[in-house]
Amino acid sequence: MLKTVIIHGQNHKGSTYHIAHMLAEKIDGEITEFFLPRDFGEFCVGCTTCFSEAENKCPHYNKLAPITEAMEAADVIILASPVYVFHVTGAMKAFLDHYGYRWMVHRPEESMFRKQGVCICTAAGAGMKSTLKDMADSLLFWGMARIYKYGKAVAAVNWDGISPKKKNAIDKEITVLAEKIIHRSKNLSPGLKTRGLFFAMHLMQRKGFNQKDVEYWEQKGWTRNKRPWKRRKLQLFSGTNR
Ligand SMILES: Cc1cc2nc3c(=O)[nH]c(=O)nc-3n(C[C@H](O)[C@H](O)[C@H](O)COP(=O)(O)O)c2cc1C
Repeated sequence: MLKTVIIHGQNHKGSTYHIAHMLAEKIDGEITEFFLPRDFGEFCVGCTTCFSEAENKCPHYNKLAPITEAMEAADVIILASPVYVFHVTGAMKAFLDHYGYRWMVHRPEESMFRKQGVCICTAAGAGMKSTLKDMADSLLFWGMARIYKYGKAVAAVNWDGISPKKKNAIDKEITVLAEKIIHRSKNLSPGLKTRGLFFAMHLMQRKGFNQKDVEYWEQKGWTRNKRPWKRRKLQLFSGTNR
């Protein structure tokens, strides 16, 4: 059974909420949801302590912890946001800023390489591409194995305003997406983009740039030949939990 976590970039249950929830339901597992800013509404204060010292020194670390833990426990992470002036909501952007330290150029969380991520947005008419990119950039740099984007121009300002024909099309497209995610979960490995980025980052960390990041990569063995997505297989073969 797959575990899905949805991070909604808004508090209300409009078109974006319904599409994100529809996908999670079709994936058909355990669903955990967070609404921004209700469940996390802080702005990054720009202290850069997460980069230079440790993420748990962030003044918002404890407030963010329930979402961080849910994402680490999930198989699928859905980021969903309505298009606001061609981009994600301010709440979604403020949330993503707090994980800058997890970008592959710094200290990516190992489990991300074994998860699938989905970006969902709706617009009245335009701005889906840049909004999806706002979220997909983070998922890629977090190291997620597979990333999907779903943007829809709904010609409406809420779910009830969407035409039955469009709702039908959404249902079909979301069914296909859910099937793809379920199918891939059976034998998940990172795509070329994630692997390529990891390769470039591992060369960079070998040269050394930020001491904390170098220590992290070395301790993980990633500057040598260990790879975050291979851990599970190795464990199975060796029969240990180390
Ligand atoms: C502040 C704000 C900015 C918006 N900017 C855009 C935009 O740039 N392009 C667009 O097509 N629709 C824009 N919209 C409309 C919403 O993106 C659209 O109605 C969306 O489907 C709403 O999703 P929701 O029902 O989940 O809230 C904007 C709406 C708001 C409230």
